[in-house]
Amino acid sequence: MRNRSVLKDDDAVARVEAETIVRLAAEAVAARGAFRLALSGGSTPRKLYSLLAGEPFVSAIDWNSVHLYWGDERCVPPDHGDSNFRMTREALLDRAPIPAANVHRMESEIDPAEAARRYEAVLRETFDTAPGAIPRFDLVLLGMGDDGHTASLFPGTKALDERERLVVENFVPKFDAWRVTMTYPLLNAAARVHFLAPGASKAERIREIFGNAPHETHPSERVVPTDGELLWLLDEASASALG
Ligand code: 6PG
Repeated sequence: MRNRSVLKDDDAVARVEAETIVRLAAEAVAARGAFRLALSGGSTPRKLYSLLAGEPFVSAIDWNSVHLYWGDERCVPPDHGDSNFRMTREALLDRAPIPAANVHRMESEIDPAEAARRYEAVLRETFDTAPGAIPRFDLVLLGMGDDGHTASLFPGTKALDERERLVVENFVPKFDAWRVTMTYPLLNAAARVHFLAPGASKAERIREIFGNAPHETHPSERVVPTDGELLWLLDEASASALG
């Protein structure tokens, strides 16, 4: 079931998701002693991460029990302008009291295949996952590109077909660049997936994804948790073609 909320604008999306994260973190820590969150990259989440680093949110979260991961990363050094880690560090990590050991960065500056292999090992080690089981995030945050991609699962790329590995290297021809990305098996094992998708540029894809007319399936559409919640946080601009 693909649920959606239509909020006024991107500020409202960031604020509502920040309030939700405070609640989900408290529930997860009370129930399991930890809140494991996969972060999205791009530009939309910066507002959310900045909110979480300030009051009233920063003191409402038990950061010692929060573990942060990334859904994908560009294959650039962590201080590069394109780095999702750098964006998160500037907006959140440099301001919130989260222990460095709880920040699980993709080593995107090394060979992409090795980075993917290492990150899958980090997931299995830090989730204490039973052999063969898939780590289950408490929450995965995702965005959607204008072309319908999510994480670094781009249309026509090899990673879309991955059914076993949890993290893979993925060459993206449109950027002539490598990425490291979580795959559908991992994303769809999550307890909750929230897409943050405000903005008019996403309206056409949103119309297709939520509509009934036949259309090519977009990578974002194939994120449907097997046994979890799926929520799209839209704003009036990105929902404008829904009628
Ligand atoms: C990335 C992101 C990517 C992002 C979309 C949407 O590394 O670029 O993980 O999947 O979520 O491109 O980005 P915006 O939300 O900023 O439009």
